[in-house]
Amino acid sequence: MSQPVSIVLNNAADYVEWRHAARGLLADHVPPDQVAFRRAGTTADLFAAAGVAEPAPRTYDTGQGPSHRVPRAFPPLAIAALCHRDDSRFALLYRLLWRLRDEPHLLDDASDRDVWNAQRMAKAVRRDAHKMKAFVRFRRVEHGDDDGEAFVAWFEPEHHIVERTAPFFARRFAGMRWSIVTPDCSAHWNGSELSFGDGASRETCPDSDALEDHWRVYYASIFNPARLKVNAMRAEMPVKYWRNLPESRLIPELTRSAQQAQRAAPAGTAPSRSTARRLVANQPDMLPVSDERPQTLEAIHHQVSRCTRCELCTVATRAVPGEGPADARLMLVGEQPGDKEDLAGRPFIGPAGEVLNEALAESGIQRDAVYLTNAVKHFRHVVRGKQRIHQRPAVGHIEHCRWWLDLEREIVAPRVIVALGATAARAVLGRAVSVSEVRGQVIADDSGNVVIVTIHPAYLLRLASENDARTERGRFVEDLRLAASGAR
Ligand code: URA
Repeated sequence: MSQPVSIVLNNAADYVEWRHAARGLLADHVPPDQVAFRRAGTTADLFAAAGVAEPAPRTYDTGQGPSHRVPRAFPPLAIAALCHRDDSRFALLYRLLWRLRDEPHLLDDASDRDVWNAQRMAKAVRRDAHKMKAFVRFRRVEHGDDDGEAFVAWFEPEHHIVERTAPFFARRFAGMRWSIVTPDCSAHWNGSELSFGDGASRETCPDSDALEDHWRVYYASIFNPARLKVNAMRAEMPVKYWRNLPESRLIPELTRSAQQAQRAAPAGTAPSRSTARRLVANQPDMLPVSDERPQTLEAIHHQVSRCTRCELCTVATRAVPGEGPADARLMLVGEQPGDKEDLAGRPFIGPAGEVLNEALAESGIQRDAVYLTNAVKHFRHVVRGKQRIHQRPAVGHIEHCRWWLDLEREIVAPRVIVALGATAARAVLGRAVSVSEVRGQVIADDSGNVVIVTIHPAYLLRLASENDARTERGRFVEDLRLAASGAR
């Protein structure tokens, strides 16, 4: 029988560090119930509770121990779950790893307690990261040197998500120098490089600046009294975040007057068309500040149908929501609805959809088992005579619409996402990639999710040479097969 082993990890959420330890433990055949993990600087509660002395912590050097084959779904699950604040996460993931050797399909069993717990943690972490993306507010700080302005934001995440979420801010605010300070850790962007440092207290961050007025004007303009649901607002925007939001000072007053108006108005009163138009026209190019966060695909679809986040809502007939099961293992993301989709309100039902349907069938994928959506939900086009000519969505359209795509991804949580073409790849990965360079590779996005980039099916319709079309179509089917095998 093996001796109890103590493992001390230096980092809160470092997959590589945890994996080295886990591989070493597997190589030494240490069963999960003989291991106690703890963070450096914390006490070994387990040994103290059992009234025994903690053995000298065992260390495993980089790369020690053979690597074990794990299902593709394990690394993204572990990467996310490790960011959870619950200290049991290290041991839970080691137990899963240990069990996976004899139970290779364990992760398919969502009712298993360990699987369920790991998925619950991963989900909480993803949700926390979404909150950070929506609720971080930068404040301008004075800079004595001639490097120009800099910005600081204070945020209190639930979990250890700063390192996994900071790349999002580096992309979105690439041209600014900023720091995000949290109690555990801080992230810094100098315009070209991300770095991380210690946490700090709220007092170290500036409290207000002129940017706040901008936020307040914006918030007042998008506040929709007809949709006021205070409880849902609180659930979505917990009070601890309100303190950091410049617009929060408006909330009590806007809420009070809206509630008075609701009491006075007959049920079902809707804002007038002119009010709706004015709100759309006033909407600046910013992250959403507050809205009821949809918790189901139906709720997302309902909200997408009313989306006014960019001007495409004034051009297209309707927004086209995604379709497919909420527990789909495979998600396909297209560019934007085409002419036919715009009229019918369903994705991929036109010529590109026919090509896609055939390729799906040939690669053994059932269309109705897949969640099918688009990077941009409205049809961008210009009218020439009687024709509506497709126009590629601009980067701003993709960025605005990522709000919806990210929500769809969070709810469906597919094992594999296939990005069809460059627009979809940008939306899914959050950065521009060359499709020809990354095509058919298994890529991990910022959150460790598996992504495969391939061509858009409409590309096959544009190829003049039959030979090229045949070759490209074959490659497309191969890419889909690869995705299907990862999603199984
Ligand atoms: N092209 C897309 O990218 N999506 C559709 O839904 C239709 C055509």
